Amino acid sequence: MTKNPSEKAEFPVSENFTDNDIQTKSCLIKLSNEQGMRVVLTNYGARIVSLIVPDEKGNLADVVLGYNSISGYLKSDEPYFGATIGPYANRIAKGSFELNGRAIKLDQNEGDNHLHGGKNGLHDVIWEVLAEDKQRVKFEYTLKESVSGYPGNLTLTTEFILNNRGELKIHYQATSDKVTVINLTNHAYFNLSGAGSGSIGNHHLYLNADAFTPVDPEMIPTGEIQEVDQSPFDFRVEKPIGKDWNAEDEQLAIADGFDHNFILNKSSKDSLELSARVTDPESGRVLEVETTAPGIHFYTANALSGKDIGREGVPYLPRTAFCLETQHFPDSPNKPLFPSVLLEPGQTYKTTTVFRFSW
Ligand code: BGC
Repeated sequence: MTKNPSEKAEFPVSENFTDNDIQTKSCLIKLSNEQGMRVVLTNYGARIVSLIVPDEKGNLADVVLGYNSISGYLKSDEPYFGATIGPYANRIAKGSFELNGRAIKLDQNEGDNHLHGGKNGLHDVIWEVLAEDKQRVKFEYTLKESVSGYPGNLTLTTEFILNNRGELKIHYQATSDKVTVINLTNHAYFNLSGAGSGSIGNHHLYLNADAFTPVDPEMIPTGEIQEVDQSPFDFRVEKPIGKDWNAEDEQLAIADGFDHNFILNKSSKDSLELSARVTDPESGRVLEVETTAPGIHFYTANALSGKDIGREGVPYLPRTAFCLETQHFPDSPNKPLFPSVLLEPGQTYKTTTVFRFSW
């Protein structure tokens, strides 16, 4: 049964939805915990709008980039802030791949390639609010067969749970009535000193990854698995994010910073394990990321243009936020050696990511 969302959003949204639909159908949901954390979400894109975390002195800051109104999201150069991304997060080369001998053709929304679910990606639709209370909300969306070229009718849920241990947990689930490919993530842009407070170069990052997947000039994985050892990509011992981001390195030059999929070290497939830790020496805030996914896409917001003025009234500039997108490897449908992203009818895709804050 659909519950009434706790609060009407004061903002409109789009897709197959007109602006008017969006005005009437979008809503805000507010979660809070006993530690003083507050999370605001919207059903527009099953999206984190705001994530307020105390620091060691008890000062509160919003640690994710975003806007105060849906028109902010609609006008933004970056449509993905905080949103659920899919059906296939990141890139599929030429928007095409073969599925059981059949050629599949998806939207090409970034040059020749398919990025983040294409023109009708999950970030740009209104999800239904299935259930809601003070510490959880579950969104559901059904993507009809052929939208953006994906086979089958796909039913998706994204559930956010905020507990009293500083954790925001995200559970993703999906089923399809035809075989398809799936890869869901969340695209929050974090700055642990507070959104809009400048470079994240001094945040320290630990990544539990011995290798990453290098990309070609179109940001498509070449298919190689590259060891991080003795390279700027080695975060196995924590170091400032900015320490090597200007190093002379072909991969950093292609992406203008970090924008790469790291292959997570796992004790067993699909286990929920610590994948990343970010520490902000200035505020004392720490973010730990656990995930069941095989990869994490570490992105230093290289493409933020500065044209977008965020809710703090300051331009969102390159490298003033980081993303840790827990997911399968980009372009897996064309890379038989990467872990499978197939979803068969009768199966349920399930992944979990935990963002754990301490201060
Ligand atoms: C991609 C970037 C892209 C960004 C868009 C990231 O997941 O890897 O290349 O610019 O999303 O928001």
